[in-house]
Formats: sequence, structure tokens, C-alpha cells
Amino acid sequence: PFQRGTINLPLHLYKGFWYFDHSLEAVMAFHRHFQAQDSDIILVTAPKSGTTWLKSLVYAVVHRSQYTATDQNHPLLTTNPHGVVPFLELIYRNNKFPDFTSSPPRILATHVPYFMLPESIKTSKCQIIYLCRNPKDIFVSMWHFGNNVLPKRYPSWQPISIEESFERFCKGIEMFGPCWEQALEYWKLRIEKPEVLFLKFEDLKADINVQLKRIAEHLGCPFSPEEENRGVIEDIAHLCSFQHLSNIEVNKTGEGSIPQLENSVFFRKGEVGDWVNILTPSMAEKLDQVVEQKLHNSGLTLN
Ligand code: A3P
Repeated sequence: PFQRGTINLPLHLYKGFWYFDHSLEAVMAFHRHFQAQDSDIILVTAPKSGTTWLKSLVYAVVHRSQYTATDQNHPLLTTNPHGVVPFLELIYRNNKFPDFTSSPPRILATHVPYFMLPESIKTSKCQIIYLCRNPKDIFVSMWHFGNNVLPKRYPSWQPISIEESFERFCKGIEMFGPCWEQALEYWKLRIEKPEVLFLKFEDLKADINVQLKRIAEHLGCPFSPEEENRGVIEDIAHLCSFQHLSNIEVNKTGEGSIPQLENSVFFRKGEVGDWVNILTPSMAEKLDQVVEQKLHNSGLTLN
């Protein structure tokens, strides 16, 4: 049994979250077989909440002594961020684990809720960085993705009205959704697990330098005063900026990455609050209510 979700793909419900077709199998394989190392860095997001940006930022911070952000040979100038930081569920779907031996630590990404992460991640010292985003902007980003990317890739894909799509999103029926449930889980977790750093897309947009410092400190590689004086933080922010990354001609994305999608599909506007151009006031109010009801008294706000 399946239900069609926000962008009309068939989704299966498992323990309160929705998974795309065969991705559930891959998630289960990841859950059972992944062996974490203490040095691993695991990035967790909901789809369309800024995963691509987070991957580029963390990669650039971690590898900054190997490649300065102004280096003409920086991997982010030739490879989409999904090529350098693969999704665990795709690795397990394709059965191909990338070779990380030349450049530890391993930076890996996933969209799964915490309770679905493998035990080895939970019991190891590896660091987890969670990024959330306002669900109204997630919906709009997803809606555009559905309308502009899927029809070209899957000619048999059936478009649906924005109203129908929105109704499904409000019920949490979207890939790896409901995104607010996922955010709340990691939000609560950050108190008992110091390995979890909780970030917001909106904070990255408001002051990227501050958030880059938080990321570097969390990963145990804070920027030195000398690096700060040299403008290393600003250089990383520029390298990973929407303007910069969206205009790069990249090679095909790498193993364990999203196959055959061209770079441009990961970048649309990269703004906060674009939902006002798409959602009616009553739609926005409805989604706010759904989310607020869930987050009630948690201290987390997502709008
Ligand atoms: P919009 O559709 O609102 O523009 P994900 O990477 O999780 O799929 O999220 C995609 C969203 O992040 C898109 O949002 C995309 O434009 C935005 N994005 C990607 N790279 C970005 C960057 N470097 N800075 C800001 N936003 C970025």
C-alpha cells in the first residue's frame, strides 16, 4: 500500500515517516549495516531544506587546510556538493561505498529521522549536524522541484494541482516527511547529545560567518585568529554561496550521489520567505497551525 505525496511520487509509511518507493529498502540496509567511525560527520536534513548548501559548507570547512577556498583546484569548483558528500541511503541503494581513504574524516549525509539511524552512529562519537528550514519554504521549493525537474526526468509523471500537493504536505506526506517531526526529534536530542549541532537555513542566510564558526567549533577545528585575519571564513562563505555554486559548470556528480541530475536542479532562488509568492494567506495560516501544534512548548520555531 502506498500514497502519493507532495510531488505525486508513491510513498510508503514506516513508523510515522514517508519513504519513496525503494528508498525504504536502502534506508533499512543503511540502518542495519552502516559501521560508523568516531571521526565521521553525519549531515541530516529534510529534502529541500538546504542540504546542498550544508554539504558544501561542511566540506569546505573540514578540508580547508588541504584546499583553500580560493584554490583553483578546489573540488567544489568541479563537483556538485552531492558528489563530494554522498547520501547514505543512496550509497546503500547503489551498493557502492565511496573510497574515503585519502581524505578522512568521512562526511556523509542522510534524510532519515534519528530513530532510524544505525546503532553504530548513536553509540560512536561521530558528529551530527542537523539543518532545518521553514516548512512553507520547503513546500515551495519542493513544489518547484516537482514541476520543473520531475517532468523532464520521468515523462510519465503526472502533475497535480498546488492545492492537492499542499494538502498532502500538510499531512506530512512527502519524502522523509513530516519535516517538522524530524526537526523536533533532532531539536530535543541536541540537549542530551552534545554531538548534535542544530542549524537553521534562515540563520545561515542571516549571518553565514557566525554559523560557519559554529560549524568549525562543533567539528573541533575552530578558525584560528590568523585564519580569521586572512579572511578564510569569508572565502568559504563566498565559495559556497548560491551565486557561486549555482554558476559552476560541474562534472557529473560522483558515486553515491544523485544520479544524472544536472547541477542547476539543486539551485532555484535560495531565499528566505519565497513562500509569499506562492501560498495564499489561508494556506500559510493552515500550515503554520499544523506546525505550531506539533512544536508547541518545545522552544523550537520554524517560521
Ligand atoms: P529554493 O528552491 O527555495 O531556492 P536541498 O539542497 O535540500 O535540496 O535544498 C534546495 C534549496 O536550497 C533550494 O531552495 C536551493 O535554491 C537552496 N540552495 C541551494 N544551495 C544554496 C546556497 N548555496 N545558498 C542558499 N540556498 C541554497
